[in-house]
Amino acid sequence: MPREQQAHEGAAPVRVALLGAGTVGAAVAQRLMDRADLFAQRVGAPLELTGIAVRDLGRPRDLSGILPGLLTDDPESLVDQVDVVVEVMGGIQPARGLIERALRGGADVVTANKQLLAQHGSELEALAAGAGRRVEFEAAVVAAVPVMRTVRDALAGDEIRSISGIINGSTNYILDMVARQGMPFQEAVRQAGDLGYLEADPTEDLEGLDAAAKIVLLARAAWGVDVGLDDVQREGISGLTDADFESARGTGQVIKLIASAWRSGPASGSASDSAAGPVSGPRIEVAVRPTLVAADHPFGQTREGTNMVIIEAESAGSLRLSGAGAGGDETASAVLGDLINVARSRVAARD
Ligand SMILES: NC(=O)c1ccc[n+]([C@@H]2O[C@H](COP(=O)([O-])OP(=O)(O)OC[C@H]3O[C@@H](n4cnc5c(N)ncnc54)[C@H](OP(=O)(O)O)[C@@H]3O)[C@@H](O)[C@H]2O)c1
Repeated sequence: MPREQQAHEGAAPVRVALLGAGTVGAAVAQRLMDRADLFAQRVGAPLELTGIAVRDLGRPRDLSGILPGLLTDDPESLVDQVDVVVEVMGGIQPARGLIERALRGGADVVTANKQLLAQHGSELEALAAGAGRRVEFEAAVVAAVPVMRTVRDALAGDEIRSISGIINGSTNYILDMVARQGMPFQEAVRQAGDLGYLEADPTEDLEGLDAAAKIVLLARAAWGVDVGLDDVQREGISGLTDADFESARGTGQVIKLIASAWRSGPASGSASDSAAGPVSGPRIEVAVRPTLVAADHPFGQTREGTNMVIIEAESAGSLRLSGAGAGGDETASAVLGDLINVARSRVAARD
């Protein structure tokens, strides 16, 4: 029996450039190959990976099934020829310049780069809006867990009161080892480093900078305010001592690195907005700090590298999301979700 023709057959491909083939990029490339038919059905056109930019072409890498000819060390020429740029190289430059170039050239952008977005996200989003393009970044905040989408889209008809969470897996791993296994704090830090759980610069995790970037992105999405990293009341875990853990244990509590953002002043549009401090709209506080929580609270029960976010909203009440906040496949899941959404919109706009 002749098979039914698929809607995407004959459709012009959506051309995709991938910037980075590290932990996340390699997983994205692999899934683009493995799931090509599925993604073509979901998008309504094939996704064509036109190239993968890396820093060092000579580095041995396991990209089975991916044509070596796709690799390039010339990201500029790659972004000039595509519909969507997926940036998973990390760092501020050249990622920022490449994203700007892509947007000006008419491409949409998907990125997982939390530090870039926390520092320059407002300018990039303004540039995208002016160019009629999109910058999507679900993967930048708690990887596979769809927390950005929940805050920005699912709760768009609600009023969010607060967002709090364990949004850095490496520090949670350390704190969990100390609390549950009685491991000395410094030994737990060493073990997290040995297992590759800490960023290349461990202060990103230990001083709360990684969590600060993520909570800033969530606060902007929740309240539309221009909060920045400097607005975060931030304290990391490096100053904790074994005595702190001991006294927590004695009271049935555990120490967790909690990132939170909450509305502390009137909602947007009220007469007292002008007293709202450095941000416009509602007054928003943002903090990252080690916090004592009851051992049987959902945060107290969050083990090892798992992340958990609790959102309190006026109508929806309390929502809890948890899952993997890092990892190649997990982060690729969020990147690919954004890519498919953006590609679908481009295909729909063709008609
Ligand atoms: N890993 C996670 O679990 C995770 C979770 C959430 C978000 N993220 C974010 O995802 C992004 C990527 O993370 P990752 O862990 O995949 O990083 P990674 O393993 O260090 O990979 C970075 C990739 O980018 C390439 N690259 C770096 N600088 C470049 C340059 N100047 N020109 C061309 N290519 C360049 C590297 O090339 P070479 O291979 O030649 O060195 C490498 O392939 C970061 O923004 C990170 O914060 C990661």
